[in-house]
Amino acid sequence: MAVERTLSIIKPNAVAKNAIGAILSRFEQAGLRIVAARMLHLSREQATAFYAVHRERPFFAELVEFMTSGPVTVQVLEGEGAIALHREVMGATDPAKAAPGTIRADFADSLTENAVHGSDSAETAAAEIAFFFPEGVCERTR
Ligand code: TYD
Repeated sequence: MAVERTLSIIKPNAVAKNAIGAILSRFEQAGLRIVAARMLHLSREQATAFYAVHRERPFFAELVEFMTSGPVTVQVLEGEGAIALHREVMGATDPAKAAPGTIRADFADSLTENAVHGSDSAETAAAEIAFFFPEGVCERTR
């Protein structure tokens, strides 16, 4: 399987729960390596641009409101099959459907406040990494 990089976000509700370390540990325990990381409070413009694909959806306003409600951490995770592995560790979008032991099962508060984001394809991973790390990410990290 190819080594990939994916964009991961710990969302405001999980940051508010003081769960950054617990969530990053789950990524590391799954075999994913953190190769870039930053913490920021998204502006309305940033959240709107990041979730532009969802702008016509009924939940868009609530999603932007939530994503701008407090700081987030944004990290690039690297590993074999990282995109699918990261989504597996996160669990289903709706925490009511997330498998036991997944991050969303343990840290989500609702479908909107679902604790974490992860890229869903190689194309979106590349675009999302460039969105948050326009200066680039280290080629070699060990
Ligand atoms: P989506 O890309 O479908 O899910 P995922 O984050 O698992 O890739 O949706 C993006 C985010 O939008 C999702 O994490 C939470 C929010 N959302 C809602 O608030 N309501 C909804 O009905 C859906 C489908 C998503």
